[in-house]
Amino acid sequence: MASYPRFKDKVVIVSGGADGMGRACSVQLASEGARLFILDVKYEMAVQLARDLSTPSAQVEALRADVMNETELKNAIASVLDRTGGKVDSLINIAGGSASGLTAEIDLAVWDRLYALNLRSTLVACQAVIPAMRRRGGSIVTMASISGLRGDPEWAPYNAAKAAIISLTQSLAWEEGGYGIRVNAICPGPVASERMLATISADELREYNESCALGRIGKASELAEAILFLASDQASFITGAALVADGGLTARTGQPTRFYRQQREGLHRRPEEPS
Ligand SMILES: NC(=O)c1ccc[n+]([C@@H]2O[C@H](COP(=O)([O-])OP(=O)(O)OC[C@H]3O[C@@H](n4cnc5c(N)ncnc54)[C@H](O)[C@@H]3O)[C@@H](O)[C@H]2O)c1
Repeated sequence: MASYPRFKDKVVIVSGGADGMGRACSVQLASEGARLFILDVKYEMAVQLARDLSTPSAQVEALRADVMNETELKNAIASVLDRTGGKVDSLINIAGGSASGLTAEIDLAVWDRLYALNLRSTLVACQAVIPAMRRRGGSIVTMASISGLRGDPEWAPYNAAKAAIISLTQSLAWEEGGYGIRVNAICPGPVASERMLATISADELREYNESCALGRIGKASELAEAILFLASDQASFITGAALVADGGLTARTGQPTRFYRQQREGLHRRPEEPS
């Protein structure tokens, strides 16, 4: 049975751990006593966060790496293995990003970049930790998205890369299950990271809020709860899963029923946003 704090003395690497959902994971992991490595291209931010989160019971270090650079990513993970005597309990692979454009006109350089940033980097990080994890088991969480479950106009490179991450996760779950390594994907819906909020207008934010059954987009801390559940021993029988945490966005077919029209007219009450 899993016990709290779930990550006491566990070695955990969070890629993209300096900001957004990764940062929320880092904060929670440190509060649970993890030996935490925050791997990020925003190195100064990672260093500052590591300083802020380090306590006598949580050792937190920053690692500089651009996950699109295979050598940097492998070296950063190798340096963790050097320092921990080959021990990594969990890899939480958050770093990634998006771009949009009409599929018929998409620049192949944009396509390749999104695949490198999201999919290839996930593969490289998994390859770097799996040989060490095979000795004592472990858990890997990959960052997919609800975008990986369906298509969206103008989002093909992102959606395709996230769909491929789910498929990669399922193959790895089978290949590594016999070594006691669990591999799961998280599929967030819209989440209020600073980057996300900076790229959308107030009208778009309202539309995002309305797209969720809960009437609001998610918070990074709420996604961290789902991600860390998958990474923890509480999820000991869960592998190869793609856990959707989207406030209900994908629970509907999207058909234009009377409910949605009435909702727009304010006839269906939305819950107050929790503080
Ligand atoms: N925000 C959303 O609505 C949403 C929804 C579904 C999935 N996602 C996915 O979640 C992940 C994080 O999203 P977020 O909104 O929290 O992002 P964010 O931009 O707030 O944080 C991403 C973190 O990853 C780091 N990072 C980005 N590129 C990197 C690189 N090349 N090398 C190393 N580090 C890098 C950033 O510096 C940052 O610390 C992404 O993979 C994104 O595709 C986001």
